[in-house]
Amino acid sequence: MNEKLQKIKEDALEKIRTAQDMNALNDIRVSVLGKKGVLTEIMKSMKTIPPKDRPAFGKLVNSTREEIEANMEQMKKDLAQRARKLQLRSEVIDVTLPAKRNSLGHLHPNSIALEEVERIFVGMGYEVIDGPEIEKDYYNFEALNIPANHPAKDEQDTFYITKDLLLRTQTSGVQVHTMEKEKLPIRMIAPGRVFRADELDATHSPVFHQIEGLVIDKNVTFADLKGTLAEFARQLFGEGTRVKFRPHHFPFTEPSAEMDVTCFKCGGKGCRVCKGEGWIEILGCGMVHPHVLEMSGIDPNEYQGFAFGVGLERIAMLKYEIDDMHNMYENDIRFLKQF
Ligand code: DAH
Repeated sequence: MNEKLQKIKEDALEKIRTAQDMNALNDIRVSVLGKKGVLTEIMKSMKTIPPKDRPAFGKLVNSTREEIEANMEQMKKDLAQRARKLQLRSEVIDVTLPAKRNSLGHLHPNSIALEEVERIFVGMGYEVIDGPEIEKDYYNFEALNIPANHPAKDEQDTFYITKDLLLRTQTSGVQVHTMEKEKLPIRMIAPGRVFRADELDATHSPVFHQIEGLVIDKNVTFADLKGTLAEFARQLFGEGTRVKFRPHHFPFTEPSAEMDVTCFKCGGKGCRVCKGEGWIEILGCGMVHPHVLEMSGIDPNEYQGFAFGVGLERIAMLKYEIDDMHNMYENDIRFLKQF
């Protein structure tokens, strides 16, 4: 009997020692110490041994049980510790590793130039106004003194949507909306996209941006126009910038002019940026034609105004010395990051 007990103990301790997890340990508990376990069974066979040996055998069984239980308890702790170590090792975080860098986007040169232009005019008390990109023929042409069959209509290759509806070819239509809607006096700029049926090449794009300007008040003269646009040029291109006005023709202004600025790169000596001219053309302007005022319900005997139109890409490309329009529309981050 004692040998049998010894064998049970050795078996049990060996199984405990090699148990891989809590489940295995639990199986051993059931098979050895459980109601039908081998140790419980052996107690039941007590009656087969002589009564005088029973107390000693009973003690032996109990001490065996205690020893097995103690071993099991210890193994339980060891297994728990082992599991925790494994878990910690698998969840390790190296706080000294360099963090992942998110690369930031970058403002487009158009956006930078537009913010600059808006800052200058808002500083002079102008309002920034938004106008529709889909426009009626009336606002894009008719109300700007460009009637049907006017040659200026062919100059601006227009995307028509219907006979009367088109993608605006210029922001000048916002002048008309503003004169119809706003109270006088008016001092506004209207930046936005315009569309012309052009192929994309180094200097053209079917979609580009203009900034329209309009001032309407009493006693406005060409001197106001010159003073305002000269100040604009100085703030945009630098203090030393000089301007010159060349007579031109626009249907919606009379008189009309184009404004040139001295080259901000060479100061007027002639260089690559100004193509050796010393001067760079930057905008169209003029006194609002009396007929245009009348069509929008403003009495030209009481009010006058001046207007101007600037190409945003032109300004951005000059300012940042970008020589190919393709760059302005590809949005290559390596290009954008330079400005
Ligand atoms: N709308 C003209 C264009 O697209 C630019 C322009 C010229 C606007 C003179 C004006 C202006 O307001 O007075 O070429």
